[in-house]
Amino acid sequence: MTPAKHVRGVEDLGKDGILEILELSNHFLEVSNRRIPKVPALRGKTVANLFFEDSTRTRLSFEKAAKRLSADVMNFSVSSSSVKKGESLRDTVETISAMGVEAIVVRHRSVGVPWMLTQWTDASIINAGDGAHEHPTQSLADCYTITQQLGSLAGKRIVIVGDIKHSRVARSNVKAFSALGASVALVAPPTLLPPSIENWPVDIIPDLDVAIKEADVIYLLRMQLERQEESLVPSLREYTNLYGLTFDRSKQLQKTALVMHPGPMNRGVEISGNVPNLPNAVITNQVGNGVIVRMAVLYHILGSGIALAGLNSEDEDND
Ligand code: NCD
Repeated sequence: MTPAKHVRGVEDLGKDGILEILELSNHFLEVSNRRIPKVPALRGKTVANLFFEDSTRTRLSFEKAAKRLSADVMNFSVSSSSVKKGESLRDTVETISAMGVEAIVVRHRSVGVPWMLTQWTDASIINAGDGAHEHPTQSLADCYTITQQLGSLAGKRIVIVGDIKHSRVARSNVKAFSALGASVALVAPPTLLPPSIENWPVDIIPDLDVAIKEADVIYLLRMQLERQEESLVPSLREYTNLYGLTFDRSKQLQKTALVMHPGPMNRGVEISGNVPNLPNAVITNQVGNGVIVRMAVLYHILGSGIALAGLNSEDEDND
């Protein structure tokens, strides 16, 4: 297929694009396991990371992914930039673009910012999270993790639990999981379901103790208190009783069911302190795979024409 120019949402890739990224990820997993996990695929290209919202794993993994591909990386964070002096989003992007960048990775609290950016720059845009809208590379990390563990997503039951309304991870994952043939169920208090839910390809199951038994994957979401204007649950303790994956509740899971969470976790709210240590919890695999799939995304977008087979690590070239 023709490589996508941008990855702003899951639709920019579609089913074929997702499958291509997962396939490429196998190659970059092998690269990442080498003694020197660095290949010259994007030598001479520049990737700018523009983070207007806080991030730990997404920002660091994009940086690591770009560096493993030998791209130059420019990191921008709002707290130390001229945005503090009132510079607009457009002027910021045009300034960065004028320095010569091939890709801009952007995270912003407003929905639609990655689409806006394409009007102001010729660079490829990768969405690292726009408000409560989309987070496509998190989805790719999750699809890759499930594929590694269960073989594929086809026919699997994936139960997503928690603050769906404010979750860009849930929106991108519902699209990606169903595109790959999984059946998705959502479990949440009615106040934490979005108004548009009838149009989503999902089942709503009110009771977690019912949904948990049929799950091949249980996917927990953080309570996004920073996006909630009012209190949407009576108390966090009550939320945990009804919707938290406590250690006791986890005993109802099938033996092979995966426990997933995109991070950051609120231990003791949506997930009990010891549940991330269960043998079937793959939360740290999701983080590690975040680097791998982001290498695949950057290569897919910027590396066309460079043969994968010729990508030796720099020391191996000299052996
Ligand atoms: C998520 C995010 O920022 O959207 N985290 C992540 O990128 N792994 C989820 C969250 O903040 O809860």
